Amino acid sequence: MCGIIGYIGKQKAAPILIEGLKRLEYRGYDSAGLALSEPSGLFVCKKTGRVEKLAQSMMGRSSGSTRGISHTRWATHGGVSDENAHPHLSSDGTFALTHNGVIENFGSIKKFLLSKGYTFQSQTDSEVLVNLIAYHYAKEPKDGDHNPFLEAVRRALFHVEGTYGIAVMCRDFPDQLVGARKGSPLILGVGKEEFLLASDVAALITHTQNVVYLKDNEIVSITPDSFHIANGTRENVSPIIDHIDWKIEDSEMGSYAHFMEKEIFEQPAALENSMRGRFSDDNSTANFGGLNLSAQELRQVDRILFCGCGTAWHACLIAEYLIERYARIPVEVEYASEFRYRNAPLDKNTLVFVISQSGETIDTLAALREAKRKGYRTMAIVNTVGSTIARESDGGIYQHIGPEIGVASTKAFTSQLLVSAMIALYLGRLRDMSFTDGRDFTEALKSLPELVSKTLELAPKIKKIASEYKDHADFLFLGRQSLFPIALEGALKLKEISYIHAEGYPAAEMKHGPIALISEDCPSVFLAPQDDMFHKVLGNMQEVKARGGKIIAIGSEEAEFPEDLPDHLLRIPECHPAVLPILATIPLQLLSYYIALEKGCDVDKPRNLAKSVTVE
Ligand code: M6R
Repeated sequence: MCGIIGYIGKQKAAPILIEGLKRLEYRGYDSAGLALSEPSGLFVCKKTGRVEKLAQSMMGRSSGSTRGISHTRWATHGGVSDENAHPHLSSDGTFALTHNGVIENFGSIKKFLLSKGYTFQSQTDSEVLVNLIAYHYAKEPKDGDHNPFLEAVRRALFHVEGTYGIAVMCRDFPDQLVGARKGSPLILGVGKEEFLLASDVAALITHTQNVVYLKDNEIVSITPDSFHIANGTRENVSPIIDHIDWKIEDSEMGSYAHFMEKEIFEQPAALENSMRGRFSDDNSTANFGGLNLSAQELRQVDRILFCGCGTAWHACLIAEYLIERYARIPVEVEYASEFRYRNAPLDKNTLVFVISQSGETIDTLAALREAKRKGYRTMAIVNTVGSTIARESDGGIYQHIGPEIGVASTKAFTSQLLVSAMIALYLGRLRDMSFTDGRDFTEALKSLPELVSKTLELAPKIKKIASEYKDHADFLFLGRQSLFPIALEGALKLKEISYIHAEGYPAAEMKHGPIALISEDCPSVFLAPQDDMFHKVLGNMQEVKARGGKIIAIGSEEAEFPEDLPDHLLRIPECHPAVLPILATIPLQLLSYYIALEKGCDVDKPRNLAKSVTVE
């Protein structure tokens, strides 16, 4: 949600900033802008729309500047306009700022600044912050050892309530950038004779793999030769430089038309990476290095709470199903945004798990913090290494699937399901699961990459179905037991990238209301593999058919359907029930992708959305 990149070094800044913004664009794409430190002062260029539009505006302008900051915006305060785009200049032209987050007390600060003669061009909270910095700067002594630029930023932030990741430039200090964070991510890239500031690793990866993850309330001051980090009480912080093992290709599209397509088709490899080195064949179980809980402590857990948002919340529902079935531990699932404000009674032996691809989703982070505040052990399933949720949880499991860039989550979801299954196996083997059941489970998980590859071969068939159904305005997705959350996920995918109204229901619930929607115009996608529920689901399909509804069925190889019951049948391989939700997801991802393509939608950057939601 909003992406920031700043550069200071020996190379021309503008092309580096624009390339970085393109890599960050999935965080927000309402507008884009940059500020450069030039001999004449701070130069700013900002445009509504995509980064490409900014790049075109900069085309005729050759700037030798080697320092700059830039931003791609997902609008919060103030509509989508050139004025509201970042960077914002202070009204005296001394400072330029890019901001990710929300300044909650911007109204009172703005009133104060207006009374002091500061003026505003935009409706944003961020412009208030840059003027507050200018206000404090004007009061700072300009002599002596201290750095008035850094001090002004520090003093301004002291008065701010809310969240921020910022990059700031000062006209009077052309050889310095200042960055700070609280609640919104900011990473320092440590290159050779150059430094970068960015909201996430994707923007830095072509320059350096060495990064410092700033913590809340830290401020970093950067010159072309050095950087210095201090905490909120001005104490120096010894930086920990982490090495990122992503490759540049991980954040590039390669021969695919979209990141979503790439991420769907790379799922066999992604799943392989999520499970690599995590099985113990001798004990027929899974192994996790990062749980930080002994087997004995885990045996004492008598309840687990899972929290997440959106697709990650669907993964939580699958975790509930798997852990209850295979480890026999009661599990509850909460939307993170609800849990954070609910005073839910939890027992001291409750373990709290959060799931988040980005590790930065603000509601999930708040739920984690709330659980920690109340003294519960917290665990996270996270993809982004070094993210806030990964750092703040007591223990956890990384997904290791590389960056997910498409706004619609695909490989992150199936990997979250895989990790949940591995947790169910691990907890099950600490309790009642037998060695042989554990071995069958392990073998089933290991076979996943191959089974997913086979399922992906359905793509051409699904493409044809997509072209037939692209003009329908409503869809129902129906499944039972562990496939009910997959029905929810299928509906979410279709909604978010093709703007078609879709709802997911437990198949039998359809009779209690949604059946009223059934007609020729509202197709139903049934998840109907050969499992314990198969005959019940067939009954639900008959109910749809009897009312003239079209049926697309996801069956399995051995499932026998009455002739003409499904209008379209997509068969996935037979598999162990623990991996079934993963295989059943694949055709739904492809269906939403191809329908969105048919409709000419911007698959990787659907309207109104952003990849990582760092505001409430
Ligand atoms: O980064 P997170 O996993 O915490 O993100 C949670 C949701 O915002 C995310 O899954 C969202 O629902 C996706 N756009 C769905 O495709």
